[in-house]
Amino acid sequence: MIGIIGGSGVYEISNIADSIEEKTVDTEYGSVEVSILDINSKKVAFIPRHQKGHKTPPHMINYKANIQALKNCGVNQIIATNAVGSMNLDMPPGTFVLVDDFLDFTVLREKTFFDDEVHHMDLSQPYCSRLRNVILSCADDNESIIDHGTYVCTDGPRFETASEIKMFKLLECDVVGMTGLPEVVLAREKEMCYQAICIVTNFATSISEDLLTFEEVKEITSKKNKALLNLLHSIILNLDDDFDCFCLNALE
Ligand code: HPA
Repeated sequence: MIGIIGGSGVYEISNIADSIEEKTVDTEYGSVEVSILDINSKKVAFIPRHQKGHKTPPHMINYKANIQALKNCGVNQIIATNAVGSMNLDMPPGTFVLVDDFLDFTVLREKTFFDDEVHHMDLSQPYCSRLRNVILSCADDNESIIDHGTYVCTDGPRFETASEIKMFKLLECDVVGMTGLPEVVLAREKEMCYQAICIVTNFATSISEDLLTFEEVKEITSKKNKALLNLLHSIILNLDDDFDCFCLNALE
C-alpha cells in the first residue's frame, strides 16, 4: 500500500479519491487517525502530519506513531510533503524540491525505534531514489521541480535566525523545515521507501528582506495545493504495488 503524509496545507486529499474510510490505528506509541482512500482501485493510507486544522506543532508531532500506524496498515512506500524555506536562489518560492540528503539539527525528538537493541542504519542514501524517479516522471512540465537538495531540519516552532541560516548555507543546505526529521529515518528503520516533496514557501530568514510569517507559508501552500494534488494523483496511478527496492531490506 502507498502512504501519504501531508504537511502544511495538505490536510486532506479526499478530492482525488473515489472512496474514503476513516480509521483509528492503535500503535504502541499512540493512536493515529488514518484515512484509507481508494484512488483508481489503489489503496492509499493518508495522515495529515499536523492533524486536521493544523493542531499539532512540529516539535509535538508523534513521528513514531505515524510511521508505525502506516506500517500497521500495510504501507511499504511513503510520499511525504513538507513546506520549506529556501536558501538557494535557484529554488525560489513555488518550487518543488525532491531532497536527497539531510542535516538533522533537532534535539528534542524521539529519533529511533531501536531503543532496546543495537542497530546502526546506513543512511548514505536516506531518501528513496526509485520513488524520486517516479515522482520526476509524473511532474507536469509547467511546474518547477528539482531532483536534489539538502534539507536541514530544526526543532521549531520558531523560524531561524539570520546567523543560523548563514551557518546552514555554509554547510551547503538548500532548504530548511521543521518536520522532515526523524520521519525519513523512522521509515527506513521500518524498511519502507520514503521520499519527501518539499514545497518552497519562502526564502529563509535574511535571504528575503521580509519578516517571515506563517501566513506567507499558508498562502503559497494553498496556491500550490492543486498542482501538488495533481502530482500526488499521478504518482499514485504510476506507482507499482509490486516492486523491489533496497529500502525494503534496509535492516539486512
Ligand atoms: N523555516 C523553517 N520551516 C519552514 C520555513 C522556514 O523558513 N518555511 C516553511 N517551513
